[in-house]
Amino acid sequence: MTKPNLLSGMQPSAGSLHLGNYLGALVNWAGMQDDYNAYYVIVDLHAITSPQKPAELRTNSRRTAAQYIAAGIDVTKSALFVQSHVPAHAQLAWVLNCITGFGEASRMTQFKDKSQKAGADSASVGLFTYPILQAADILLYQPKAVPVGEDQRQHIELTRDLAMRFNARFGDTFTIPEAVILKETAKIYDLQNPTAKMSKSTADPKGLVNIMDDNATILKKIKSAVTDTEGIIKFDREAKAGVSNLLGIYSAISGRSIESIEGEFEGAGYGVLKAEVANVVIAAIEPIRERTQELMSDQNELDRLLAEGADKANEVAEATLAKVYDAIGFLKAAK
Ligand code: TYM
Repeated sequence: MTKPNLLSGMQPSAGSLHLGNYLGALVNWAGMQDDYNAYYVIVDLHAITSPQKPAELRTNSRRTAAQYIAAGIDVTKSALFVQSHVPAHAQLAWVLNCITGFGEASRMTQFKDKSQKAGADSASVGLFTYPILQAADILLYQPKAVPVGEDQRQHIELTRDLAMRFNARFGDTFTIPEAVILKETAKIYDLQNPTAKMSKSTADPKGLVNIMDDNATILKKIKSAVTDTEGIIKFDREAKAGVSNLLGIYSAISGRSIESIEGEFEGAGYGVLKAEVANVVIAAIEPIRERTQELMSDQNELDRLLAEGADKANEVAEATLAKVYDAIGFLKAAK
């Protein structure tokens, strides 16, 4: 029996992935490789929708790839590649731009948030069409599953709408994908501002645990996480956002239920909980950081693996693009 396809990706827009990327997506990705034909992409075209320094972008793309591998992506099972190595992404995005409504794109909440932060004059048209490029990333690989965190739900909905619209207008071309969002880890929150999601663009770097942070830094950040003055270790997202986030992180990493963790810490102070959360986070992240550093020390090998991944990706992406071009009525170039 052939396995269904899967696609997911991350932006190489920072020096490191963070705990939200790891728990919200990467852990899930690694676990799905045996059941799916998986394509994992480093979306450098998306990263330039906000300003990037060229040398940093190159390093961050390699480091993101190294982090995928270090966190368990097996390149003998899955295709690991860089988006700009597969020209069909930009090509399909153009076609999808032309079937997306202006109003429809204007409703994307991530665009509204980011453009508000950047200011209307510095938000680029690329930022506006970002979700349409994301739809192209996905639809090229005809995936059934797209494992992501909660913040991507609306983009996957748009992708489904565009796929259905294209199929209805031009004939069956795309598989309709589904978001796979694990409830427990769908949203990891900022340690300093625990009602906002953990994000690389956070105002306060102390709110963010990076995979590349050393152990002492991780301990410090978790110890200074914002909690409350009640002194009771109980999960309550509304009233106790900070403590609930720590419990959620602990539960996601240890695989234990929130109730059993609440039981274990009954009567204990927040300091004890924080120390224990730091322990499990460090135990999970330290080997990934070390493996990433090892992989980064042999860039030729890393580039070779990415070229192999791009070959696999190009094969599937070109076949889908050819179908799309034909369906839409583009003339075939004579051989
Ligand atoms: P990005 O790079 O912001 O994030 C990568 C993945 O990490 C998840 N994530 C989180 N999960 C839980 N808690 C958090 N605090 C948290 N922060 C991030 C995201 O949901 C995502 O799964 N637009 C995408 C990149 C993309 C993509 C794609 C994803 C481009 N093309 C095609 C899937 C399929 C993004 O900006 O992810």
